[in-house]
Amino acid sequence: GQNNLNAKLVLLGDMGAGKSSLVLRFVKGQFLEFQESTIGAAFFSQTLAVNDATVKFEIWDTAGQERYHSLAPMYYRGAAAAIIVYDITSTDSFTRAKKWVQELQNQGNPNIVMALAGNKADLEDKRKVTAEEARVYAEENGLFFMETSAKTAANVNDMFHEIAKRLPRA
Ligand code: GTP
Ligand code: MG
Repeated sequence: GQNNLNAKLVLLGDMGAGKSSLVLRFVKGQFLEFQESTIGAAFFSQTLAVNDATVKFEIWDTAGQERYHSLAPMYYRGAAAAIIVYDITSTDSFTRAKKWVQELQNQGNPNIVMALAGNKADLEDKRKVTAEEARVYAEENGLFFMETSAKTAANVNDMFHEIAKRLPRA
């Protein structure tokens, strides 16, 4: 029925930012200290109840290594939502995240729901990107922003719930 929605969601971001770890935390409630780098992309699905509806996320966890960049359009094309992930301990990963946002703004679905995830928020003592800087950037670019930790689970379910709530309803 119209209360049940399938939504393609893609995760993009620098290698090692924690895309696979966020998905593993969300889908299986697990975390691996030595998560292997993704080759190509990996697919997952997870259903969430939001108010009186259910959203079935069809999740494409892409590979952040630069040599896979040319595959990315296959995964973000037609996506209802994107999570752009950076690592709060890496300014390079934040720069890379902004490039992904630009690419989606230029090539992606104009109605896509975009979230910016500042991951590894548990590593406060190694922080290089302030929450304020990211919040301002997200606001200026129409994304919603959360700092997450796949390790501690902080904000991970909340982020997916927030996306589910923001999806346009048929
Ligand atoms: P690619 O697949 O290469 O694009 O990387 P990725 O973005 O999928 O990163 P991945 O999930 O493989 O995580 C990279 C490393 O960071 C792994 O060793 C994870 O255990 C670690 N990691 C991921 N998320 C967190 C987090 O929230 N906190 C901490 N402390 N480590 C994390
Ligand atoms: Mg990965």
